[in-house]
Amino acid sequence: MQPTGVFISFEGIDGAGKSSHIQALSEAFRQQGREVVQTREPGGTALAEKLRDMVLHQPMDALTEALLIFAARRDHLQTVIQPALDANRVVLCDRFTDATFAYQGAGRGVAHDKLATLERWVQGNLQPDLTIIFDLPPAVGRARAGSIKTPDRFEQENEAFFGRVRDGYLQRAREAPQRVRVVDASHSIGEVQTALALIVEDLCR
Ligand code: TYD
Repeated sequence: MQPTGVFISFEGIDGAGKSSHIQALSEAFRQQGREVVQTREPGGTALAEKLRDMVLHQPMDALTEALLIFAARRDHLQTVIQPALDANRVVLCDRFTDATFAYQGAGRGVAHDKLATLERWVQGNLQPDLTIIFDLPPAVGRARAGSIKTPDRFEQENEAFFGRVRDGYLQRAREAPQRVRVVDASHSIGEVQTALALIVEDLCR
């Protein structure tokens, strides 16, 4: 039987160890003979990467930020994610719309209903098949991330901001428990990897 496309997104505050887990999972899927598209948001296309650069470095208000992120997402969905799913590939996306609800919504205060409207406009019914939130107290995340030489607009934010972002993620998990799984990222890399492998096995069964 031909495997169908699978869309998995990965979320969490900085320092949660997302990147190494995405890399390991990508290798595991390739070993099973699956074609994998590893991508990220904001970004993943030439246009979306330009928008990412603006969002990360140029001062702007919170709603402008959300609009640019959704514009980037639309381009990414149309030109990369949907075609990959149509071709039965595995799409592993470093952040997706839950990040917008967490950072622009809970973090910066953009109203939930505005974000929900944009989500419907941009995505229709498309949601990841699975979203993993690597959950971590902000102080632990900060200590792990270490000192960053030239922090971007998000990395410059304080612990209270990341506390709200974390709560925003956990709220999204409560709203969509069948899609979103929370993994305790304060455990060792090995333990987190084992938890992740079980969740993904469950999805692909
Ligand atoms: P990230 O993938 O964490 O970049 P890096 O690995 O280089 O630190 O994402 C960049 C930032 O973008 C991150 O701080 C969170 C932010 N972001 C939002 O604020 N809203 C969104 O919808 C997305 C996708 C990301």
